[in-house]
Amino acid sequence: MAVDVLVGTQWGDEGKGKLIDVLTKDVDMVVRFQGGNNAGHTVEIGDKRYVLHLIPSGIFRAGVKCVIGNGVVVDPIALDEEMQNVKTQGFDISQIELSDRAHLIFEYHKRADSLNEKGAKRKIGTTGRGIGPAYTDKMRRTGIRAIDLTNAERLAEQFRSECARYNKIFAEYGVEEIDVEAQLAKVLDAAKRLAPHVANSTYTVNKAIRANKTVLFEGAQGGLLDIDHGTYPFVTSSNTISGGACTGSGVAPQHIRNVWGVLKTYTTRVGEGPFPSELFDADGEELRRVGNEFGATTGRPRRCGWFDAVASHYSCMINGVNLLAMTKLDVMDGFDKVAICVGYEIDGKVTDEFPAAVSDLEKAKPVLEWHDGWKCSLSEVRSYDELPENAKRYLERVAELVDAKIGIVSVGPRRDQTFEV
Ligand code: IMP
Repeated sequence: MAVDVLVGTQWGDEGKGKLIDVLTKDVDMVVRFQGGNNAGHTVEIGDKRYVLHLIPSGIFRAGVKCVIGNGVVVDPIALDEEMQNVKTQGFDISQIELSDRAHLIFEYHKRADSLNEKGAKRKIGTTGRGIGPAYTDKMRRTGIRAIDLTNAERLAEQFRSECARYNKIFAEYGVEEIDVEAQLAKVLDAAKRLAPHVANSTYTVNKAIRANKTVLFEGAQGGLLDIDHGTYPFVTSSNTISGGACTGSGVAPQHIRNVWGVLKTYTTRVGEGPFPSELFDADGEELRRVGNEFGATTGRPRRCGWFDAVASHYSCMINGVNLLAMTKLDVMDGFDKVAICVGYEIDGKVTDEFPAAVSDLEKAKPVLEWHDGWKCSLSEVRSYDELPENAKRYLERVAELVDAKIGIVSVGPRRDQTFEV
């Protein structure tokens, strides 16, 4: 039996989709456990590029069961579209199962998301997918769940009642009200196709574990966007860390073997919020250009900076990362020198602990440690031994700083541009 969790160790966009795809060659089941279609997991197979938002990244391997767990918030119209799209491209959507306990996102959540952003003194820079409002409804116990997709009458009743509540708020704030019946018709149409995929997945996953199957949990976003542990309030609304795999699927912690931390060898962030090692110069531009750092979900340019060992050490600690999947090393091929942020100077004092207050993070000056670049292309490297010494030294220093072992290195977007260590 092997139950592993794969999570992002930064602010998302570490390359989790690719790594999940690489790791799924040996797995029986992939489980998403939090977030929703705010995620954008990119997988390149041959000359084709696929972006998944809700479907677990195991879908490209025949026979891999893909479970969307109870902790995920699911836009049924978006999921239906994504499933039809994947089906058209020749993949088997009968592999997909949606937990009956997963909460649903509707049009009113998306409108509330943009209303919150418009009204906010400090914008979060959300993806606009309705994630925060859907989790808010879950917590206030007025959410509608996937189980309700299997009963049109119950779904319609709950949907109408929630729309009435939201429409009052929209009327007050001058937001266009929901056309309830038109939206309901769309939801019911998607529900027809989704209902056969809805199941009591808590049992599906636990039975697979009991039957010694190999299960991989696919995290979305990253540890620094976690609702409890991230740079609050500039976070997403779920527990993105490995602990979320248990609550978001109904699997107990003692089953988990490895926690894979996907770590981009520099740092990026999309949306608002503090980012101590952010670069505003030509180096930052170069990372964005070479790394193609534009959001897979929203297309927004990502903010770029040096690798932040303070933030990533903290993230690896709260995730319990024991194996690192280090990505996009090739993006720094052209740099004469590369830096690692090893401490924060806050009000004249240097710390290597990640603070809770955004105001501290905003004034933190990065303490940089410089390393010589390797100045050659890594894209054809297929083993750790083939890496130039400077690249190895850089990776080993990063691993030492975050206190985890290097498991996999990725030097390009394709499946074959990956090697185990
Ligand atoms: P939300 O998840 O749409 O509510 O957005 C909250 C914050 O999380 C914003 O800063 C988003 O840019 C960020 N975020 C959400 N999903 C992702 C992701 O998959 N990758 C990177 N950032 C994300």
